[in-house]
Amino acid sequence: MTETTPGKLYGLGVGPGDPELISMKSYRLLQESQVVAYPTGRAGGGNALSIVEPHLREDHIMLPMMYPATAGKVADSPEYPQLMTDFYDDTANEIAAHLDTGRNVALICQGDPFFYGSYMYWHARLAEKYDTTVVPGISSVMTGPVVLGKPLCHRTDTVTVIPATLSEEEIEARLKVADSAVLMKLGRTLPKVRRVLKRIGRLDEAWLVERATMEGERVIPMTDDSVEKAGYFSICVLPCKTPV
Ligand SMILES: C[S@@+](CC[C@H](N)C(=O)[O-])C[C@H]1O[C@@H](n2cnc3c(N)ncnc32)[C@H](O)[C@@H]1O
Repeated sequence: MTETTPGKLYGLGVGPGDPELISMKSYRLLQESQVVAYPTGRAGGGNALSIVEPHLREDHIMLPMMYPATAGKVADSPEYPQLMTDFYDDTANEIAAHLDTGRNVALICQGDPFFYGSYMYWHARLAEKYDTTVVPGISSVMTGPVVLGKPLCHRTDTVTVIPATLSEEEIEARLKVADSAVLMKLGRTLPKVRRVLKRIGRLDEAWLVERATMEGERVIPMTDDSVEKAGYFSICVLPCKTPV
């Protein structure tokens, strides 16, 4: 009996939102895959899926991987880390089952897979066992300043990237020493971020970019109270301080 050659795992960065911002390599490997795996919430769909949707074929086998509820209290609960571990273990097994039958699996990730991308948790479970290729994607950090129309850094500027899920004190300490900065994971963290920016006198420099290159894209100055209604898919950009 001949043994089946396992399929390949492709961790594909698919860019920030606009389906045209997917790289040629991610596009090609998507077409060379029989299975498309994607993270999704209870409502179905998901950003990564909507980015690749125009590029899907009828015969692609879709593998939705439904996150346990991640918002609000559940994410702060003591059970949350174990829930997530079980989720990644179980879905990695589902992916492995396809790979074992010889199918290539494209696991799609909004932005870049290794830049706060959940792809890395599946990579950690599967990449040693299966032939794996990771393709970088255009990250929200690169996209926000372009949508805003203001350069992020030049000459000897340093850029500080801050997940807004850090404590208020930690955000303040890091912003105080930053030249340019990008804050990620906004939404319910926005009031905290605005308090810090105001305290250190940098609120006027900061801009919110919500859903960059996607439907519903918005650019709002952080001085505007309406920014606090923005969702999780937003970044706050403090562009170049010095004139270009
Ligand atoms: C889990 S991280 C994933 C980052 C992603 N891998 C990347 O390279 O951009 C999710 C955060 O990325 C940011 N983000 C991702 N896509 C975005 C977009 N199109 N517009 C604005 N922010 C975005 C938001 O700050 C969001 O809270």
